[in-house]
Amino acid sequence: MARVTELPEAQPAQFLIVGSGIAGLYTALKLAELGQVVLLTKDRLEESNTSYAQGGIAAAIDPSDSPELHFEDTIKVGVGLCLPESVSILVHEGPSRVRELIQYGVPFDLIEGAPALTKEAAHSRRRILHADGDATGREISRSLVRHVVGHPNITIYEETMVISLLTHNARCYGVLALMPGGELATFASGAVILCTGGCGQVFSMTTNPSVATGDGIALAYRAGASVSNMEFIQFHPTALFHPPAPRFLISETVRGEGGILVNKYGEHFMPKYHELADLAPRDVVARSILKEMERTGSDRVYLDLSALTADQIRHRFPNIYDTCLHYGLDITAEPIPVSPAAHYMMGGILTDIWGRTSIPGLFACGETADTGVHGANRLASNSLLEGLVFGHRIYHYLQKNFPEIEEFQPDSPPELPQETSPETTCSDRRFIQELMSAQMGIVRNGPGLTAALETLQAKGQGPATPCLDPAYIELQNIRTVARLMIQSALLRTESRGSHYREDYSRTDPAWRKRIVITGKRITYLPITPENG
Ligand code: SIN
Repeated sequence: MARVTELPEAQPAQFLIVGSGIAGLYTALKLAELGQVVLLTKDRLEESNTSYAQGGIAAAIDPSDSPELHFEDTIKVGVGLCLPESVSILVHEGPSRVRELIQYGVPFDLIEGAPALTKEAAHSRRRILHADGDATGREISRSLVRHVVGHPNITIYEETMVISLLTHNARCYGVLALMPGGELATFASGAVILCTGGCGQVFSMTTNPSVATGDGIALAYRAGASVSNMEFIQFHPTALFHPPAPRFLISETVRGEGGILVNKYGEHFMPKYHELADLAPRDVVARSILKEMERTGSDRVYLDLSALTADQIRHRFPNIYDTCLHYGLDITAEPIPVSPAAHYMMGGILTDIWGRTSIPGLFACGETADTGVHGANRLASNSLLEGLVFGHRIYHYLQKNFPEIEEFQPDSPPELPQETSPETTCSDRRFIQELMSAQMGIVRNGPGLTAALETLQAKGQGPATPCLDPAYIELQNIRTVARLMIQSALLRTESRGSHYREDYSRTDPAWRKRIVITGKRITYLPITPENG
């Protein structure tokens, strides 16, 4: 194994943030109130899953709504695996965090001066705030970026990829990073906060941008941190299916505003699968679409928007309308062809309610973290909210426990990424993505998962040479995350939420526990009467 023999001198940062979605940007702004922040991001500041979020951000701000109702909806969708304490924090602290976003200048859509609220699947109330119709994430990102850029206490490094976490005596004190010019740099910090987002790129069909390669999960796992709930990946029911157009997200709010799913014969099929029909929980809708596609021998279903006028469609969904038109689809005149695609990681780096991981000095926030709020399935539009609420809690914790930057030598010199396969990165990445979509998709089974794990392990063998190409580092991260997902999916011999095994199709009360992987060790965290 090739290692870095001499580390470059570390640049100090009171707080070090990795990633620039809502969790990274917001947490950077809060921590900049306490001290110097360094923010590393592997692409441009604006390139993150957040920027592609359409539907919005959920918060109980309407007088007819309450955190208690939001709590009930979240818990119900999580199918017994949410941690009620975390959910309670999310729904009670959420409204204040959303007001803070308004203060940061996020231009949420208004009706008569108050935020316009829409509905999404499994929400019992209209509680989703949105901006520029269906470009909520982009508007949030823009507003936060405006504050972060030029902030006197925030130093930004774009195109900078973290290769490994530096630890000493089992404490994290910094990172080793690959700089845009190809040179290595180290950053020492009192608190390293991973806000690296999701991992949809583990699959061939995903709504996620190409940067969503699970980097934080892979980095934390390799450094010895615990990861949990890795079998729970959410498939969004409606991604555009119009090759060669990309699998562009068609927001659930389209169904919230009256769109319905029909099969190739024009039949409205969701009422026969669930009492909430088109607004049933996402895992239910995704599986129902799969069944309907199989039943009708089609590779897609359609979103019928005939309940909306052309003006309503253009006004409420300008981003979806323009994108579809760009690919030759006029959605004011024809239904949108869609099928499910990997969308969101419910599990991730295990944290407590202060964003602390199992490694002192290392925090995680946003999609890369498993705070316990999502359980086996995520309620729509709770994800942007989670990034804010738990980012604020990390700020609160560090305010009370101000970290010192200490000069350490690492326990062992950091490993360099290894190139292990003669194939090009691109075809190898594609290979893993297709394998994962085939065997670890909406429906799984033991033999398929076992075969996929063996294939992945075989791909990792062979002579290795050090490689400092960001594409290889991403590939290595994708492979690590893929293995962790399959490992967890094999262990969970039941079906629950987004994890559906055709060889164990029932939900088993004995499985009301989270699977935690720490290195080679597997542990289980039951949801007990105390925490559940
Ligand atoms: C959507 O707009 O459907 C996505 C919202 C989410 O994933 O929470």
